[in-house]
Amino acid sequence: MSMELNAAPFALGPEDLEACLLLDSEALDGLWTERQWQRELESSDRLCLGIRAGGRLAALACGWLVVDELQITALAVTSSQRKRGLGKTVLSALLDQARRAGAVSATLEVASCNLAALALYQRCGFLSCGSRRGYYSDGRDALIQWRSLT
Ligand SMILES: CC(C)(COP(=O)(O)OP(=O)(O)OC[C@H]1O[C@@H](n2cnc3c(N)ncnc32)[C@H](O)[C@@H]1OP(=O)(O)O)[C@@H](O)C(=O)NCCC(=O)NCCS
Repeated sequence: MSMELNAAPFALGPEDLEACLLLDSEALDGLWTERQWQRELESSDRLCLGIRAGGRLAALACGWLVVDELQITALAVTSSQRKRGLGKTVLSALLDQARRAGAVSATLEVASCNLAALALYQRCGFLSCGSRRGYYSDGRDALIQWRSLT
């Protein structure tokens, strides 16, 4: 499916707080509070990218650089814009940005039942390299995803 012409990743900033909170509540079940989002969007050590589509913030990807590793903390696409490549585009842009900043690897945790996200990470070159039992508050297990950026 073709993407809209304006579907180019951009750096999210404090002015995107409301849009991030909305997408978080829709797609991530309220991962972060308003205060936590504020910190993500204001801190220079956090990488946060978004994509606009359909007249709104449709995708976001966030991470932290811990020494030379990108730890991906959030990835979401609004449900009406899924399966159009936005997730892959915003994640690839985050990996590129981290690589330019000196990261040599990237990692994240994903629920073992989240088949859409697992498919996306596999397409983006991640390997499942371990699991954490009962990682989530509702008891679900997490799979650790990892890839080299070199
Ligand atoms: C996971 C998520 C970000 C995927 O976003 P998306 O924009 O739909 O993904 P893309 O269109 O870029 O798809 C990337 C690849 O994953 C595959 N994929 C995406 N959704 C899929 C699904 N539901 N089932 C199977 N494969 C799927 C695509 O087919 C595509 O593979 P391809 O390159 O071979 O075509 C989105 O479903 C989402 O926001 N889910 C809720 C939040 C979430 O789970 N975040 C991740 C937390 S770790």
